[in-house]
Amino acid sequence: MATKDPARVLITAALPYANGPIHIGHLAGAYLPADLYARYQRLQGRDVAFICGSDEMGVAIMMRSLKEDTTPQEIVDRYHPMIKESFDQFGMSFDYYGRTTSEVHRETSQDFFRTLAKKNAFKLSTDEQLYDPEAEMFLADRFVRGTCPVCGYEEAYGDQCEKCGSSLSPTELIEPRSALTDATPVLRETTHWYLPLGDLQPELEAWIDTREGWKPNVKGQVKSWFTEGLRDRAITRDVAWGVPVPEDVADEAGVDGKGKVIYVWFDAPIGYISATKEWAAQTGAPERWKEYWQQEDTQLVHFIGKDNIVFHCLMFPAMLMEHGKYVLPENVPANEFLNLEGEKLSTSRGWAVWLHEYLEEFPADLLRYALAATLPETKDADFSWTDFQTRVNSELADVLGNFVNRTMTFAHRFFDGQVPPLKQVNEEEQAVLNALEEAPARIAQAYEAYRMREAVFETMQVARLGNKFFNDTEPWHTRKTEPQRAANTIHICLQLCAALGVLLDPVVPDSARKLRSMLHLTDVRSGEPETAPSERGWMEAGSALLQEGHEVGEAVILFSKLEDDRIKKQIDKLNKRAEEAMESAVDEKQKAYEQAKEQIEYDDFVKMDLRVGTVTLAEPVPKADKLLRLEVDLGYEERQVVAGIAEHMEPEEIQGKKVVVVANLKPRKLFGLESQGMVLMSEDRDGALRVITTAGENGAVVR
Ligand code: MF3
Ligand code: ZN
Repeated sequence: MATKDPARVLITAALPYANGPIHIGHLAGAYLPADLYARYQRLQGRDVAFICGSDEMGVAIMMRSLKEDTTPQEIVDRYHPMIKESFDQFGMSFDYYGRTTSEVHRETSQDFFRTLAKKNAFKLSTDEQLYDPEAEMFLADRFVRGTCPVCGYEEAYGDQCEKCGSSLSPTELIEPRSALTDATPVLRETTHWYLPLGDLQPELEAWIDTREGWKPNVKGQVKSWFTEGLRDRAITRDVAWGVPVPEDVADEAGVDGKGKVIYVWFDAPIGYISATKEWAAQTGAPERWKEYWQQEDTQLVHFIGKDNIVFHCLMFPAMLMEHGKYVLPENVPANEFLNLEGEKLSTSRGWAVWLHEYLEEFPADLLRYALAATLPETKDADFSWTDFQTRVNSELADVLGNFVNRTMTFAHRFFDGQVPPLKQVNEEEQAVLNALEEAPARIAQAYEAYRMREAVFETMQVARLGNKFFNDTEPWHTRKTEPQRAANTIHICLQLCAALGVLLDPVVPDSARKLRSMLHLTDVRSGEPETAPSERGWMEAGSALLQEGHEVGEAVILFSKLEDDRIKKQIDKLNKRAEEAMESAVDEKQKAYEQAKEQIEYDDFVKMDLRVGTVTLAEPVPKADKLLRLEVDLGYEERQVVAGIAEHMEPEEIQGKKVVVVANLKPRKLFGLESQGMVLMSEDRDGALRVITTAGENGAVVR
């Protein structure tokens, strides 16, 4: 594919839900490839806006807050800063990282909604939807789980099946159940706005056909949805957390808009726009966001994981088309999934590597490199700690680090730390210079085609080439026999190091920066946002970046090898996590219901003398916080019962009630009082006790 030269590049990375920390799956899916691309584009000297932010609305956030018995706001206020911080330490070079609880976002998404409503782009429809009678709320999206009608996966969500990627609506689920209470939902009427994707299908198909250079897995996925036929999608919800449906729009439509919010997958991608607005305002040019979003010659690229394809390839483009003022994505290079040690990542099963934890142990660059080299671009890929170790030790340390180090050391020992002159270049040397000259364009081609792994491999080839050249030319010999050869070797190797200081910036930005400063290589672009980028950048890396006689700095170690015990520690930690998660899942289950008891004979049952009785008196027992003393009228006699229920109910709650008494239980003494029987109670899973009340005359037999 030819290298394009777009006027500006607008790069987005999927807004992560602010309901948990970032893990390596997120990084491999969307964030690392996006950052590689953004840095590459900046090094090419292009006008880049790299936008991301936290996705803070929607049911995923609300679920989390319900689970933790707190508010959604508290959840996002906890995770947004944490995510932002770990991204920063990982070297994510966002121009702006926003959040969808911002005022600008609320306005922007409401405006967008209003514009589409005014254009009659929506349909209104009143239908029966799933309602949880226990929680007394509609079960949108993730609040409901059930069996996927497409692939049969039993844990599909109400909005999407994570197994086959199909987008669903809650009523399509087979055997739906509430994710909140496990209750079987009932149907209830409610009115919502719909985006008529069905009607828009021809337009979307025509547009998708114009997209070139899309990954086959992305285009294939989209086409298969076309074949099934697109369905209209509700874009509002009856939930208590989200961007409110604008009142004027609801009034206009004659709908009671109270309690209705915009569907998170409608507002979240608009988050890209609102974040760009906030960024533009921050740079002092508040109108500038329009250049990026509304001028035809922008190249818009969405980096996402494959579970987001439907929203970025169909729904958001449909919204943008209907609005009419926006550019559509040039490409959506979605990645497949990353596995961990051969198994599917699972946060609930403790099977993940968390970014903030990783960063406490190792430098960001090591993970960036190891992940970049194995990105799940065309199929699922695997991350393992031993592969990580091998990548670091035998590629970063042995190839790259070693090459830089021996070149620097040699330059200092024999050339006063200066770039020696290059003279009488021989064939072997010329071949290396040629390879260097071609490298930027070759690597660029891979980046432009979103083949990040290949780009990373080709970049490392430059270091491999250098290492081999150093070995083959043996400057430690030629230094004595043919000094100019040694000078040429070191000259060329230093130029290769300088080139790597630029070409490696997308992959290992901290190390590339160290390398540039080691070489005293200034006046070149970095992959980060810069206010006054240098004239020299990516393409210039192929020619001599260092002048003859240029003085280089001290050699510093770029990468040290990882010992086995550090790797073992990570593997142990992972296994321990998984075990703990398993144990707590078992506990959770046991907490669910007490285990069923053994079968008994009928004769065992009839041994019990169960009787109806009225509690005529209930009072506390002095000095015994847990006990109540009851007097029970069994008709044929009065009984005193001492019950351990004082922490569960007030005496008034049981006094006067008709209850069931185990009348032939052997009496026993509690705090000096004889208890002559037992009153039946039910105990909930959380330990709550309730009296079982009954009817009938006192003394009636219960059987
Ligand atoms: N929060 C979503 C997820 O993690 C991604 C949102 S991407 C956006 O799957 F486009 F909607 F912003
Ligand atoms: Zn499915």
